[in-house]
Amino acid sequence: MGVLKNIGTLACCRESGGQSDIHIIKNAAVCWDGNGIITFAGPETDLPNSFQDDEIIDAGGMLVTPGLIDCHTHLAFGGWREEEFEKRILGKSYLEIAREGGGILSTVKATRAATEEELLKKCEKFAAEILSLGVTTIECKSGYGLDYANEIKLLNVYKRLSTLSPLTIVSTFLGAHTIPPEFKENRAAYIKLLTEKLIPEVAEKKLALFCDVFVEDTAFSVDEARAILNSAKAYGLSLKLHVDQITNCGGTLLAAELGAASADHLECIDENGISALKASGTVAVALPFASLYTHQKPLNARKLIEAGVPVAVATDFNPGSAPSFHLPFAMTLACTMNYMTPAEVLKGATIYAAKALKLEDKYGSIEEGKLADLAVFEAESVNHWLYHVRANGCRCLIKNGLKLASGN
Ligand code: NIG
Ligand code: FE
Repeated sequence: MGVLKNIGTLACCRESGGQSDIHIIKNAAVCWDGNGIITFAGPETDLPNSFQDDEIIDAGGMLVTPGLIDCHTHLAFGGWREEEFEKRILGKSYLEIAREGGGILSTVKATRAATEEELLKKCEKFAAEILSLGVTTIECKSGYGLDYANEIKLLNVYKRLSTLSPLTIVSTFLGAHTIPPEFKENRAAYIKLLTEKLIPEVAEKKLALFCDVFVEDTAFSVDEARAILNSAKAYGLSLKLHVDQITNCGGTLLAAELGAASADHLECIDENGISALKASGTVAVALPFASLYTHQKPLNARKLIEAGVPVAVATDFNPGSAPSFHLPFAMTLACTMNYMTPAEVLKGATIYAAKALKLEDKYGSIEEGKLADLAVFEAESVNHWLYHVRANGCRCLIKNGLKLASGN
């Protein structure tokens, strides 16, 4: 049992209302029971007397939000790709680099060469730093193995990480990230490996909850993606897609057609795509780091918000298009690049991110019945927090009702 008191501004972020409704309560308190379930969230003056003796944590008059949720990362990978960063600055495009065998494929080489232990060590370091930023849940994709043993290796890293880190980890199978070099002349055989061997095993061993496909010129066509995702669906996996990032290949329409939980990237989405997402209830995921690092025109999220599509915000952390896991900084970029207000962005990195991971019944908002994942930020308001970029504004973190020692 515990109580967080002396909260200057509490942003509850319930699902109800629109993208900008974050349900602010001033001078608030939050209580939870022995199982870490929230039993009260409201003005401190209404705090029931029965809670007065519980363990009290003082929020110092600061801003409290739900623990942040990063609903799109590629956390486990071998090596880095800083030389491509320089090439893009000098004028080479992301797709040109990919066609020359760089990009995703160069990370595949480095990832295959790394052991499970090495990848796990690297991820543990990332996870500790991610937590310190106020993030309590992350999605992690495979997709740099692209063969049987190495895709399973990546998913095992996430399984082990979830027992070592306080972070809630949601794994996604992204065997369809691109075609591996050994199947370049035989795409059908690789798709068969995915649909007949990897997807059944991943589902049966519960190594992932989601299956994702990158729909792009240099990756998979809409028809190939449909076949892969239909197989994943038949095995009980939920769906996510990387779509309309560099070119518009019709991927957003496919995400809607298949009832995907989320459609991610969307820099090149058109009006038809927006209407389709609205009709299917799919969450759109804005990834401002990827637009920034690939020199893409960012998604204008206003159009989606005005159409009533929920927009989540995530880092897309990976060694190529988005080499940062700093979610609060990505949130500020979503304000300036994707034209979202700070309140809209906060909803996008909490309850809508939880929806993109099908976790909205447990996480993503501060209300009775949800788990107490709470982040305390040194700021007077949501606007001020996201406007004033700093190394790390998180001062205290509570995960499932337990105060973490790592808050600084
Ligand atoms: O989400 N778009 C495809 N996949 C990643 C990039 C991966 C990479 O460049 O290594 C993304 O941007
Ligand atoms: Fe991605």
